[in-house]
Amino acid sequence: MFSVVCFTRSSSGLSFDFYAVSCPSAEIMVKNSVRSASSTDPTIPGKLLRLFFHDCFVEGCDASILLQGNDTERSDPANKSLGAFSVIDSAKRVLEIFCPGVVSCADILALAARDAVELTGGPNIQIPTGRRDGRVSLAANVRPNIIDTSFTLNQMANIFSAKGLSMDDLVTLSGAHTIGSAHCRSFSDRFKLDSNGKFNLIDSSLDKEYAAELTRMCPAGASASVTVNNDPNTPLLFDNEYYKELLVHKGLFQSDSALLNDERTKNIVLDFANNQEFFFESWIQSFLKLSSIGVKRNDEGEIRQLCSMTNG
Ligand code: HEM
Repeated sequence: MFSVVCFTRSSSGLSFDFYAVSCPSAEIMVKNSVRSASSTDPTIPGKLLRLFFHDCFVEGCDASILLQGNDTERSDPANKSLGAFSVIDSAKRVLEIFCPGVVSCADILALAARDAVELTGGPNIQIPTGRRDGRVSLAANVRPNIIDTSFTLNQMANIFSAKGLSMDDLVTLSGAHTIGSAHCRSFSDRFKLDSNGKFNLIDSSLDKEYAAELTRMCPAGASASVTVNNDPNTPLLFDNEYYKELLVHKGLFQSDSALLNDERTKNIVLDFANNQEFFFESWIQSFLKLSSIGVKRNDEGEIRQLCSMTNG
């Protein structure tokens, strides 16, 4: 039974345990890199998960986000706050020693995001591998494919649908905001302090006391590098707390609050808030869909030697 599952090809042309023969320790090596980086820096899991999302939504899950250079995806302002590139680089370095030229950066990133979830208490997901690394990375492709916090539910659903993801997937994958953090500028337009220092709530879908707390954490003139936890209660745990916070109007971004404020998504938010197991089961399915968006096989891509540059 085990080997049947292991070698089954998924609909994306990927297969489970793709490296079983060519690099049997690939997955464990990635996991060790993620584990050791996260033990010294607990912000790593959140960064890895977001990095993967931004990779998959632009050009598919092909590690195009990792390419450095003028006008690559990384240079778009929406990607300036991405991190954890060094974790992927160090996993790649180890893999190049033991299995040179075998494991793609796209797979390393997918596995690392998967591991980030498990490491923070989320479900353990077996994901298919065999992705090839893309050769194209253009800043101009970022805006049309990445969601801004100001988007309406319809705008978000349209982008998700263009990737083969449903509105349920949108609610489920937004649950990633149960870990990680955000810079003040990504939510500071939801309230403001007037010239007399008086607090004004601009977005009434945000809890007033929480907003006031956020202004204290993000005072005027604060450094642009200040960050606030996405999940105010259990920021280091991958759990269903994000949905519980949504219910009490403590979704950090306007795009989070939008999920509670629409009848089409409200009930799923409620279900996930009430039942973590159900959220985890849905997460597994939605994550598998996310991780197979636009994957490249065979000649469509390559196995990069360095994750930050194409083989040239
Ligand atoms: C659906 C619309 C989404 C919007 C508008 C959105 C927006 C954002 C923004 C603005 C930040 C803060 C960035 C910063 O200031 O550093 C953020 C953080 C984050 N996002 Fe999303 N996001 C969305 C969906 C997702 C999805 C689908 C995932 C993953 C599956 C995800 C994973 C994360 C994670 C883990 C963080 C924390 C990053 C860190 O700690 O560095 N997001 N998101």
